[in-house]
Amino acid sequence: MPSSADSLVPALRAAGCVFAEEEAAILAGSARTGAELAAMLERRLAGVPLEHVVGWAEFRGLRILVDESVFVPRVRTAVLVDRALALAGPAPVVVELCCGAGAVAAALADALPGAEVHATDLDPAAVRCARRNLEPRGGRVHEGDLDAALPPDLRGRVDLLLANAPYVPSAEISLMPPEARLHEPALALDGGADGLDLHRRIAALAPGWLRPGGHLVIETSRRQAARTAAAMSAHGLTPTVVRDDDVDGTAVVGRRD
Ligand SMILES: C[S@@+](CC[C@H](N)C(=O)[O-])C[C@H]1O[C@@H](n2cnc3c(N)ncnc32)[C@H](O)[C@@H]1O
Repeated sequence: MPSSADSLVPALRAAGCVFAEEEAAILAGSARTGAELAAMLERRLAGVPLEHVVGWAEFRGLRILVDESVFVPRVRTAVLVDRALALAGPAPVVVELCCGAGAVAAALADALPGAEVHATDLDPAAVRCARRNLEPRGGRVHEGDLDAALPPDLRGRVDLLLANAPYVPSAEISLMPPEARLHEPALALDGGADGLDLHRRIAALAPGWLRPGGHLVIETSRRQAARTAAAMSAHGLTPTVVRDDDVDGTAVVGRRD
């Protein structure tokens, strides 16, 4: 039975884990007993994402709880948080659509004292998980298709509307790493034929929720950014593409003039 981080490294390395030492330390730090550590190692060696094995992911220095079958927050999504922080005034109204575990909303609830923070997702498992992350930080989580479950009194007064919605083209799902394609739900990945179905829907609904001068910020890829921006222009928002090479993240900011 493994008892220390060092004893896990050879097996993790043999299974192809690139960051075997780091993963070993996280596993060893998360298990309460040797038996639990052995079970965690077995699941990790079977290909279960590390974050699902230990039940949390690090996101911008926060420990975000991530239940099985919920999308694991990615480092690149920090681009949404950093852009939102750059745009935020005092006590802003913040809404995260397609929130998954609610990492973006949780980071902003921590960083923006006085903010009113809402998050919403269609997947009940994601909503349950987001509630565990966001409610202790004073935010609220709603369950429904895109904006369907948002409180109507937010209409016209949202300062920051944020989304890391699915944007992988359907035909490219089969090319994704097994950890994503086998352990994250298709609902969290599949953005339709060109990957932009949800971006177009979000750009269409955004002007109804944003206050004049408010911003929509959508994570996208370098390759899709021009089309995400065009979707925003088509609905009267003024788009700007932003790029953060440190986290390899791309977003489009649309301002409601
Ligand atoms: C790529 S994941 C991102 C999750 C989270 N924003 C993050 O960055 O960690 C996309 C999320 O969108 C949700 N989703 C997909 N289609 C949706 C829809 N029509 N309405 C609401 N949420 C949706 C999925 O359930 C999933 O949690």
